[in-house]
Amino acid sequence: MSAPANPDSTDLDRLHAAVKREKEDLAPESQPAPLWAIFLLMLVAIVAGGQIGQMTGGWSFDVSNPFSVAGTGGDPRPGGGAAGDALDPFALAMKKGASGYSVCGGCHQGNGAGIPGQFPPLAGSEWVNGGTERLIRVVQHGLTGPITVKGAGFNTPGGMMPFGAAMSSQDLANVLTFVRNSWGNEGTMVTKEMVQKVRDEEKRATQWTAADLEPFAEKNVPGDIPAGPGATAAAAPAPAAK
Ligand code: HEC
Repeated sequence: MSAPANPDSTDLDRLHAAVKREKEDLAPESQPAPLWAIFLLMLVAIVAGGQIGQMTGGWSFDVSNPFSVAGTGGDPRPGGGAAGDALDPFALAMKKGASGYSVCGGCHQGNGAGIPGQFPPLAGSEWVNGGTERLIRVVQHGLTGPITVKGAGFNTPGGMMPFGAAMSSQDLANVLTFVRNSWGNEGTMVTKEMVQKVRDEEKRATQWTAADLEPFAEKNVPGDIPAGPGATAAAAPAPAAK
C-alpha cells in the first residue's frame, strides 16, 4: 500500500533546510578555543595566584591564626615566604613566644606579675633580665628551694618543674625572647642556637637551686641578638640544623 504523496512535502523540505542551517551556524562555536586564549587565561591565573599568595602570606593556612604554633620550628616556606619577610625575626619570635607562653602563664600570669608568695614575677625579674646562661637553665631543668626575686622571697613547695625541656630549642628561644621583651622587660633575643648550646653543655636530671645557679647569674650565652625591628635576618646567625 503506497502512502499518498504528502501535500506538505515542500514545507517539510523547507523546515529541514532551516534545521540544517541552524546546525551550520552552531558549528563554529564548538571549535576548540584558540591556543592563545588558553595561554592568556593561564597567565592571568599565575599572576593573580602570585598576587593572592603575596597578600595572604604564601598561601599559608596559619597566617591569620595568632594561636598557631605550627611552624615554630622555623619558617618552612621556601625562601621565608612573603609573610616571613613581612615579620622581622624579632616580631616573629615575639608572636610565637606569646603563644608558647601559655605554658608559663598559668603560674606567672598573663601580665608576668606572678602571684605574691606563690609564683615569682617575670616582669622586672633579675632572673629574666639577667644572664641568659641562668635563665635558660632555670626553664630547661627547673628550680627549687628558696629564691629572691625583686627583693621578695619565694619557696613554693616543689619549686618549678623543667617546663622548657619538652619544647624544641626554637620554641623555647621564642618564649624566652618573649618574656625578656614583655611587661617592661627589655632584653636581647634568645636564639635556638643559644638554647641548644646550654642543652649540649648541661645534662642534668634534677632541678637547680638558687645557689647552684649563682655563678651563671650574670653570664650570657654568646650569640644573642639585639631585640627590636633592627633584628634583621642579616643579624641573625645562619639557620643551623637543630
Ligand atoms: C606550675 C607553675 C609554674 C609554671 C607553669 C612555670 N613556672 Fe616558672 N616558676 C615557678 C615557681 C614556683 C618558681 C620559683 C621556684 C623556686 O622557688 O625555687 C618559678 C621560677 C621561675 C623563674 C625564676 C624566678 C623569676 O620569677 O624570674 C623563671 C625565669 C621562670 N620561672 C620562668 C618560667 C617560664 C619561662 C615558664 C614557661 C616555660 C615557667 N616559668 C613556667 C612556677 C612555674
